[in-house]
Amino acid sequence: MNLDLSHLESFLGKDAILSAETKIAATYNTIYNKTGKGNDFLGWVNLPSDLDEMLISDIEQTAKDLRAKSDVFVVIGIGGSYLGARAVIEALSNHFAPLADKKPLIVYAGHNMSEDYLSELIEVLDKKDYSLAVISKSGTTTEPAIAFRILKQHIINKYGEKEAASRIVAITDKAKGALKQLANVKGYKTYVVPDDVGGRFSVLTPVGLLPIAVAGIDIRQLIKGAVEMEKMCKANPTLNGNPVSEYAVVRQALYDMGKTNEIMVNYEPRLVYFSEWWKQLFGESHGKDGKGIFPASVTFSTDLHSMGQYIQDGLRNIFETVISVENSNRELRIPNEAEDLDQLNYIAGKRISEVNHKAELGTILAHEDGGVPNIRIVIPEISAKVLGELIYFFEMSCALSGYMLEVNPFDQPGVEAYKKNMFALLGKKGFEEKTEALNKRLGL
Ligand code: PA5
Repeated sequence: MNLDLSHLESFLGKDAILSAETKIAATYNTIYNKTGKGNDFLGWVNLPSDLDEMLISDIEQTAKDLRAKSDVFVVIGIGGSYLGARAVIEALSNHFAPLADKKPLIVYAGHNMSEDYLSELIEVLDKKDYSLAVISKSGTTTEPAIAFRILKQHIINKYGEKEAASRIVAITDKAKGALKQLANVKGYKTYVVPDDVGGRFSVLTPVGLLPIAVAGIDIRQLIKGAVEMEKMCKANPTLNGNPVSEYAVVRQALYDMGKTNEIMVNYEPRLVYFSEWWKQLFGESHGKDGKGIFPASVTFSTDLHSMGQYIQDGLRNIFETVISVENSNRELRIPNEAEDLDQLNYIAGKRISEVNHKAELGTILAHEDGGVPNIRIVIPEISAKVLGELIYFFEMSCALSGYMLEVNPFDQPGVEAYKKNMFALLGKKGFEEKTEALNKRLGL
């Protein structure tokens, strides 16, 4: 992969970027020497190369067993406990997987509290052989806990206690939390989320690796890509020739000049969930203390027919980061037609990807003219190895950016506010004072 910064040179002089050289070297030191805020959550830094061969083989074996007996595999989790797996699985699966015969189909639960969603899932599971992973580092998150309680009863009713237990994997803390206690009592297979890896940085732990392996994806290639990026950063913790550092520095410089919204752009719909993962990684890591770039995402050319107008002409507080894919995995050309009634013969014989690339270039130039700086992250193709590289690329740049923004990139105190209100409104024990205050506020 490489980083193309040519479409923001008219906004940011080269000097603005180069002046961050000392800062970036110091920030790497903060990370590698564990001297910054949240330094007990830096387990992801060495994670790719530290992954134990026994753990990888064990995950592969469990995945093989589950694949053999499942038409459907349900991943129960929310936030960092499901987005990484979904990002990789959707990026590497057939777009029409639900209609294809390939088994198992990976579906998700516990990332919402929609009664309709869970009811419809149960209707599907009534008729299918399935297994599931319940993933929660804390083991106490409400959304996955509700989904698991319902699906646990369903799977036991369907298969009986013993067989059900062999179809459930719990991925959680090594000792703490309700899920760990439950898994111990019921004898489920468990995997540990390391203490020093936060949810949104956990895709290369069993949190992401098990569901990805169940989907039939080569997790060794994913890890290989991440290891390469980890080694590159360690070998060159500077600004010069390190795209991770360049990306971190450039987005901070753009933020400092008022570009407070970053839009992740893809031209491949299979990357939609990769953008969702990226949004969580950066949004939850940086949005605090009244600061942080707001991460958004679009899929082009689809959204050029909706959000394109705003990006071209709206409030000038945005910049775009384009994931540019050089090679498609398939080949399809536009046919010639003798009559040419639709007047498309001028592109007859071209591959669809060629047209897509011209749309990408045309859009970047138009947006640049419209006052929107563009960063291009160019990848050769969408493969497990490249996704592994990208995962580590964004994790490290997120940590660097966060420290440059002077926030703790590894906590998420703001997430608790809605939970406290929800618990109080539901009358949970221990929240009586809050319940009273909210009732008063709501005139109840
Ligand atoms: O990144 C994070 O820490 C969060 O998004 C968590 O992953 C999310 O809240 C789920 O938490 P848990 O895994 O404890 O259920």
